[in-house]
Amino acid sequence: MKTTQSTAIHAYIDTHKEETFEDYCALLRIPGISALRRYDEHSRRAAQFVYQMMRGAGLEHCEVIETDGLPLVYGDWLHAPGKPTVLLYAHYDVQPVDPVDEWAHDPFEPYIEGDLIYGRGVTDDKLQAVSVLHAIKAFLQTDGTLPVNVRVYYEGEEESGGRSVEKYTREHPEKLQSDIVILADGGLVAPNVPTMCYSCRGILYTEIIAKGAPQDLHSGGFGGNAPNPLFALAEIITGLKDTNGFIHIPGLYEMIAPISDEERLQWQKSAVYADTTFHNLLQADPIGEPDYTPIERAWGRPTLEVHGFIGGFQDEGSKTVIPALARVKVSLRLVPGQDPYQVFELLQNRVRQLTPAGVQTSLQLIDAGMPFLSDPESSAGLGIRRALTNLFASECVITRGGGSIPIATTLQQVLRAETFVVGFGLESDGAHAPNEHTSIATFYKSVHGFANILEELSYV
Ligand code: BES
Ligand code: MN
Ligand code: MN
Repeated sequence: MKTTQSTAIHAYIDTHKEETFEDYCALLRIPGISALRRYDEHSRRAAQFVYQMMRGAGLEHCEVIETDGLPLVYGDWLHAPGKPTVLLYAHYDVQPVDPVDEWAHDPFEPYIEGDLIYGRGVTDDKLQAVSVLHAIKAFLQTDGTLPVNVRVYYEGEEESGGRSVEKYTREHPEKLQSDIVILADGGLVAPNVPTMCYSCRGILYTEIIAKGAPQDLHSGGFGGNAPNPLFALAEIITGLKDTNGFIHIPGLYEMIAPISDEERLQWQKSAVYADTTFHNLLQADPIGEPDYTPIERAWGRPTLEVHGFIGGFQDEGSKTVIPALARVKVSLRLVPGQDPYQVFELLQNRVRQLTPAGVQTSLQLIDAGMPFLSDPESSAGLGIRRALTNLFASECVITRGGGSIPIATTLQQVLRAETFVVGFGLESDGAHAPNEHTSIATFYKSVHGFANILEELSYV
């Protein structure tokens, strides 16, 4: 619905593009890599910068919340009596940049080429983190009011499990009380296709540690007699998943909530987009469980991946060593019905079972996040969809997501609020990969998009 206010808001956004873009670039220059402790000072600077943006937007009660880990940043505006309260979540942290040699430009100096901007975090999640605040600013600067009550709640540890936001959310439910949660940390299923995501997979991220002899050994003297922990891990890994993509962890599939035929049918509307993305990025046919479509594998099935082997000799040339120690990083994506802590136990049993003689293994839990599922037909879901439909002048598609947002379920449950993921970047933007990029036009579109959503949610 176009009101006088909304016309003025969108005009404000158009005439303040430059300062919005400056904030985006300034945040992009701060390397808040949450997985690496040596970047903590930068993460803290990023939190301060977000706090300044919240104040600049006109939010009240702005606060950098210290935690045992990296800070949370909060702000609110609660002067719309009778209107819903919308909690907008985003994260200011980013993934590590390795392999750094694969980047064509400095990942923390935004590089612009035509309509594209390159840098770590341009799409995940600084695009959303900045544009949400500028959408709010447009309302508050234009006539001093917002169409709904808002709480803005940002964290700096999303990319490494979100422990601090989890603890704080559980301890302060009344402070965060909201009717609707928008996780501003998603994307579009294809260019210019409005998308609202109503479910994310959960995650269990672990490391398997294997120990053989007490020290490294000469493979000439000991090969044939000594256990090899790297080999043991290779055996374990191949025992966990077969070539059909089936995961051999007893009990894993028993917990899964079935997907209705109706929902499967609904997904087919996105299949053409998702299939194109898979083909373009893989440069080959997707591979996986034969009885499922690529979209079903990504949204509706648990998966297991290996992220890195550590151990033995990694440098150039040869070194004939039997390593004493080896490690491998393994994660599972989980679907509604599965609990990462229960799956951890199952995985532990299975690893024990697969461990060959002469080697000791242990399993460490690194990150865990529950899957979440919301109702896209709820009044909030329909409101967001209307806002996005209007923004792109084409019908909003509803999707699940293959990725994970660890805090999603906790926000949904603790606040008893309808929870949805919204974002404007693309799968092909290369989030988490070298040369992450996005379209600058998309960034501005995102500011208009969040403004539309706030306005539309005032009618639900
Ligand atoms: N924004 C993503 C999650 C996402 C991707 C949601 C696509 C919906 C659609 C988020 O930043 C992310 O990457 N999360 C991590 C969490 C993990 C490190 C605990 C992930 O999914 O790998
Ligand atoms: Mn993200
Ligand atoms: Mn991410």
